[in-house]
Amino acid sequence: MVTETSRRTPLIAGNWKLQQDHLQAIALVQKLAWTLQDAKHDHASVEVAVFPPFTDLRSVQTLISAEKFDLRFGAQDVSEHDSGAHTGEVSAAMLAKLDCAYAIVGHSERRQDHHESDAIVGRKAAAALRAGITPIICVGETAEDLEQHGASAVPVQQLREVLAELPATGEIVVAYEPVWAIGSGQAATAEQAQQVAQALRQTIAEVRSDEAAAATRILYGGSVKSGNIAGFMREPDVDGALVGGASLDAAEFAAIARFKHHVGT
Ligand code: PGA
Repeated sequence: MVTETSRRTPLIAGNWKLQQDHLQAIALVQKLAWTLQDAKHDHASVEVAVFPPFTDLRSVQTLISAEKFDLRFGAQDVSEHDSGAHTGEVSAAMLAKLDCAYAIVGHSERRQDHHESDAIVGRKAAAALRAGITPIICVGETAEDLEQHGASAVPVQQLREVLAELPATGEIVVAYEPVWAIGSGQAATAEQAQQVAQALRQTIAEVRSDEAAAATRILYGGSVKSGNIAGFMREPDVDGALVGGASLDAAEFAAIARFKHHVGT
């Protein structure tokens, strides 16, 4: 079993989805940065990243670099192609030019709305890695899957298929997001998140290596808020959170990032 947590810096990632134009993005990032600054947040001990829509990225990059904020940022999706005749796509190289550290791939909303298969998600993750961007690979079961197969079978299979498209090395982040928990207000229990995170880590050990498994951050996502984050973060295999709705409120998202200060609650 590979659960050595000390090497992994927790990551609190805010997925804004289809919300906030670039002007609203500037205001939200500013408020988030100031709230964290006021609270003397130590970014080296908990990394905080935001995932605005594509059209906001240039504004967010400019603001963060001008103000020297410690926040990181990334895209909500990326093309599997590097360039060419692919209307509407955005390449990983373009995102890298904008200083994106991460790209989310395989979010369940994209799997549903755009019929993205594990193979496509894997190729998107591979494209991100080629450009030096860390993919955040989302996996998770539906309520039906949960009833039929239990919590970990489907996410583990999804991760296996995605990893099959990737080179053996290169940093990845995995986000376990049960589909039934996303936007529902009904988060998984910390025990369930731990059980699946552990199974995902084991999968990384099998497909990549024990070292990769020990170094890879595994996030939980699905109705995370300041009131439940501490419970998830107490689990040895949960290394952070992918936060949707609650990331649009600067004070609430900052409180999630500061989970260490209410870990006893
Ligand atoms: P939620 O979304 O926090 O609003 O449930 C999580 C996600 O979709 O990444």
